[in-house]
Amino acid sequence: MTASWLQINPRRHAAAPYGPPQRDVVAVAGLEEVRAALACCPAHKPTPLYRLPALARRLGLGAVQVKDESQRFGFGAFKALGGVFAVARVLRHTTDASGYEALAGRTHPDFTFATASSGNHGRAVAAGAKIFGARSVIFLPSFTSAEKEAAIRARGAEIVRVDGDYEAAVARCREMAQARGWTIISDTSWPGYETIPKSVMQGYTVLADEALGQAGETPTHVLVQAGVGGLAAAVLGFLWERLGERRPLSIVVEPQSADCWFQSNRLGQPALASGDATTSMGGLACREISPLTWPILGLGADWFMTIEEDDVPPAMRALARPEGDDPTVVAGPSGCSGMAALLRLCANGDARRALGLDATSRVLLINSEGAFGEPALFERATGLSVAAATARMR
Ligand SMILES: Cc1ncc(COP(=O)(O)O)c(C=O)c1O
Repeated sequence: MTASWLQINPRRHAAAPYGPPQRDVVAVAGLEEVRAALACCPAHKPTPLYRLPALARRLGLGAVQVKDESQRFGFGAFKALGGVFAVARVLRHTTDASGYEALAGRTHPDFTFATASSGNHGRAVAAGAKIFGARSVIFLPSFTSAEKEAAIRARGAEIVRVDGDYEAAVARCREMAQARGWTIISDTSWPGYETIPKSVMQGYTVLADEALGQAGETPTHVLVQAGVGGLAAAVLGFLWERLGERRPLSIVVEPQSADCWFQSNRLGQPALASGDATTSMGGLACREISPLTWPILGLGADWFMTIEEDDVPPAMRALARPEGDDPTVVAGPSGCSGMAALLRLCANGDARRALGLDATSRVLLINSEGAFGEPALFERATGLSVAAATARMR
């Protein structure tokens, strides 16, 4: 089936090996180093994987599980894994620290880390710089909420507001960092700038490893939301290398206005989004993919799909006001996009058949962020304040 919002990847083969081009981007072997760096963060612990059996029954699925990254070390999003690890790795390689433990005991006032971010990644870089006693400057596009800006400032970062979109913030960050000798910790890559985005993605593999360990039976389907593709490449790459042909069928999810991966899949090469990336799903508001992720997603993801803005509130509600005894999950607009995609797929008979979504399916979703950054939108969608919904969590 090929719909205007759902497309198969014509290049993927279930039996394709996870070879050097993929391992060069994300590798299972890199996990150990990430774990050593995260051990320096006192707040680090695994996030829960929630089972939603009542929802699964209603949707005619075997199981729905949600990896809840809103609880990632009190930080509110999976992004902490990438930003903190990438900062630690740069410091370890450019100082004489013998290991991550030695690094954690020192301050690094001569280092300034910079990044462009829609909010979450900037908070992660600020947190990493704070943990290791360095300075950070974060470039925000005009759409980033005041709540997200305040959370970045609270971690000691300086903020530069850019009058434009995410790509404009990236351009400004690159300009200023080059002029001032700052180290850019970007989650997206460009020609000649790949090492650090690889570290960021390698950091994210922690959540895939945890989810696999927590899931019991291996999931049959995984839905992962994409901005530039770093999260999706980390999760799918990890599952591909670890599970080979037994890996779940993967579906990459994007907002319709920020469909850079959907368009890249259609054209068989990196391409721009068809829209202007105006979306409530700020973490996914990217017009260009991270080229580095092509060997994993472009060659290995199974399906690409888009969702509409109207799909967001029902998904937020389904998580925050669950059916039966299912646990409450508090998700922001980007966080709930995997659920939005699942609800969209399940409501369409052709899509269900094409993806083999039935009573034997075990679906894995990732709540990539909590709702603190968009409290008004959350309350409109769910009828609950973020605090009231959080109080219902187990
Ligand atoms: C909450 C959230 N979910 C998903 C993503 C997508 O990640 P990526 O840009 O690596 O594809 C982001 C990126 O900022 C995000 O903040």
